[in-house]
Amino acid sequence: MPSTLNLSREDMRALGYRVVDILVEHFQELPGKPVTRKADRPTLEAQLREALPEHGANALEVLDQLQRDVFSNIMHTDHPRFFAFVPSPSNFVSVMADALAAGFNVFAGTWLEASGPTQIELVTIDWLREACGLPDAAGGLFVSGGSMANMTGLAVARHVKLGGHTEGAVVYFSDQTHSSVERGLRVLGFQDHQMRKIESDDRFCLDISALERKVEADHAAGRVPFCVVANAGTTNTGAIDPLPALADYCRREELWLHVDGAYGAAAVFCERGQALLDGLGHVDSLSLDPHKWLFQPYEIGCVLVREERWLKEAFHILPEYLEDIEGQEGEVNFCDRGIQLTRGFRALKLWMSLQVFGRSAFREAVSRGFEMAEVAEAAVRELSNWEVVTPAQMGIVTFRCIPVGLSPENLNGLNRELVEQMIADGFAMISSTVLRGQTVLRMCTINPRTTEANVRETIKRLDDISKRLLLGQQTR
Ligand SMILES: Cc1ncc(COP(=O)(O)O)c(C=O)c1O
Repeated sequence: MPSTLNLSREDMRALGYRVVDILVEHFQELPGKPVTRKADRPTLEAQLREALPEHGANALEVLDQLQRDVFSNIMHTDHPRFFAFVPSPSNFVSVMADALAAGFNVFAGTWLEASGPTQIELVTIDWLREACGLPDAAGGLFVSGGSMANMTGLAVARHVKLGGHTEGAVVYFSDQTHSSVERGLRVLGFQDHQMRKIESDDRFCLDISALERKVEADHAAGRVPFCVVANAGTTNTGAIDPLPALADYCRREELWLHVDGAYGAAAVFCERGQALLDGLGHVDSLSLDPHKWLFQPYEIGCVLVREERWLKEAFHILPEYLEDIEGQEGEVNFCDRGIQLTRGFRALKLWMSLQVFGRSAFREAVSRGFEMAEVAEAAVRELSNWEVVTPAQMGIVTFRCIPVGLSPENLNGLNRELVEQMIADGFAMISSTVLRGQTVLRMCTINPRTTEANVRETIKRLDDISKRLLLGQQTR
């Protein structure tokens, strides 16, 4: 193998075509395959542990090994019967876009090194800004995902509202808020006692009167309330906090309003989502994850802020070794707008898939997520021994098996067992969560390739497994 790390034209082609063939096969055959396969550690140690090879091997043989031992052991979050956590339904155009971005090795941190890609990112961010109803002056950037988007938005809040000083400052959010918010705040220097986790109301939304009471109490105690984090679609149930009322309240109280729409903000792409997310345009900062409900492969999250200039004010530093990047008026260096200097061309996949499929396809694809959760809800309601805990909302429905005669603890155990059995079964994947102390099953149905039959069969399978488990308990 040459020390220039080059392949011949023929070898590049052979490898590239084989990779494309594998991916086409993956997209075509996935619905007929099990959703998940997990190997145990000793097996994978035996298959993959080896000393760093001194001499190279044939690339096609390495690919064979990858297929055999690595890609065969993943949970397919893009599978039409993957309903657990938050699916990532992906699409082939974006996969090819990622290959192009890697192939051209675009450094999307500065205009000097990537004027074309930077313009694509500006345009794509602007599409999202407009879809979410933020004003023209708003701006943003692509980051790795929702966790980084939340932290970036909160870093801007800390800078604009507190001048970077966290002492005495207090942040408010509901008990349904994603853990990435708490983690981001921790990284930004906030202590646990500066975070008020407010008990959500009976629809799992942020309770504004409880929020008001906490803010008043903190003011009275000489603390500095500065930021409310609201949800545009919680991970647990898809709940949306009362965004218009929160926007009014935060404006009155001069509090920063960050909205975590990592999961749900993409719903603005369809009419139902737009209506539900009324008020989204009034936020100070917003997270939205294209690698969830906008069908992009990992990793791509997005953060938007109400005034684009805040990003530069919060993050810009110009060391002497980067002075050459300062260019002409209008040139944008995305490294000035966030945490990363070196950053890839994440915008390309979203831009290219929107170009190829068009907004109407995305509208229908997002809308289908709402409908499939309703199909799941209806299927659960047809069964005895089951109850819907939270109805279909933003593509998420929660429910549980409740045979008579079991204690609350045993009911929780039974529902957890159902998830374990589904994982072992491999046919479909659902996950559990806990709502007010009860273990519930949760389906998130945002894959546009999920069919009604996929949903019904999964619920039937769950019911069959529950009957088997209950019969086992009786005969024991
Ligand atoms: C509401 C919400 N916020 C934030 C996140 C974190 O996003 P990521 O995993 O992309 O960092 C998630 C992930 O599921 C989420 O559902």
